[in-house]
Amino acid sequence: MSSLLDIKGLTVRFATRGGAFTAVDGVDLQLAPNEVLAIVGESGSGKSVAMLALMGLLPWTATVTAERMAFDGHDLAKLSPRARRQIVGRDMAMVFQEPMSSLNPCFTVGYQIGEALAAHTTLDRRARRARVIELLERVGIPDAGRRLNVFPHQLSGGMSQRVMIAMALACSPKLLIADEPTTALDVTIQAQILDLLLQLQRENGMGLVLITHDLGVVAETAHRVVVQYAGRQVESAAADALFRNPHHPYTAALLAALPEHAAQDGSKLLAAIPGMVPGQFDRPQGCLFAPRCAHATQRCQDLAPVLADEALGRALCHTPLQAGVPLELQA
Ligand SMILES: Nc1ncnc2c1ncn2[C@@H]1O[C@H](COP(=O)(O)OP(=O)(O)OP(=O)(O)O)[C@@H](O)[C@H]1O
Ligand code: SF4
Ligand SMILES: [Mg+2]
Repeated sequence: MSSLLDIKGLTVRFATRGGAFTAVDGVDLQLAPNEVLAIVGESGSGKSVAMLALMGLLPWTATVTAERMAFDGHDLAKLSPRARRQIVGRDMAMVFQEPMSSLNPCFTVGYQIGEALAAHTTLDRRARRARVIELLERVGIPDAGRRLNVFPHQLSGGMSQRVMIAMALACSPKLLIADEPTTALDVTIQAQILDLLLQLQRENGMGLVLITHDLGVVAETAHRVVVQYAGRQVESAAADALFRNPHHPYTAALLAALPEHAAQDGSKLLAAIPGMVPGQFDRPQGCLFAPRCAHATQRCQDLAPVLADEALGRALCHTPLQAGVPLELQA
């Protein structure tokens, strides 16, 4: 397939007071033009850091390495900072987790969207104004001509996120990265924003990377899914295959925690995964998921697994599940 994004072995290390910390460890991502890829995983699994690395937006304490980091035919690692800035914001844009804190409170909405256009296009002021109104209308902001002059604090959370999306779309990017774009919003607004993103993705023929910890959202939207855990990619698959036959115990546990499953078996409680994602100081020696895994053995405690081959679902596990059963234990 021709790739819009082709990332291999993306690794991000932070220098911290407690020593070096690997927040993203060897993540691979492939995305075709027009494709929707979901990255899922609990808090702290390195989803945001991986995407910020791609955008070149991490602080100086971060060291980013990769075997390959190609976007639309450009090797991002080899571009000069200037050349990279020209691509980021124009061909590759990002909608962030917190719409309220991502907009600058000191400038009007119209000015902020216009800035992106001024930086990346040759449009004059009049043309920029017209384009800003067009963008605001496109993301469903009523009375767009008047909203140009409002400040972010005058907008609701949902409206702020629409403005952020308009800003990201300003230069018609080929790739949009949406990092938990609905987490900070009311439930009723969440569905609207998600629908808007998917509609724009289809209309503009964009690649969309959707970061979420909600597998319900993934089921409705994504073509392919990457599951991350504690900085590692533990499984990647076509969305329907992943839902039908998850190979990594973590993926299976995430699926079992979906509300639909609780409803199906009549139980009121979700099958929550015990414990939490290990951080900088409590990463286990063997498999990172071992302390929480229902299938863990002594080998899992002692030895980090390597990625199983394609036939076994490319899961990072000593005993990938087949139809819910660890491979080695099957008759
Ligand atoms: N600037 C930084 N310096 C040191 N560690 C960092 C920095 N930014 C993030 N981290 C650490 O990297 C790990 C991954 O963080 P990241 O924000 O990517 O998680 P996430 O998967 O996006 O989680 P969430 O679902 O909460 O957004 C975390 O352990 C976090 O504490
Ligand atoms: S390697 Fe072991 S602990 Fe890790 S996910 Fe697989 S079965 Fe569970
Ligand atoms: Mg995040």
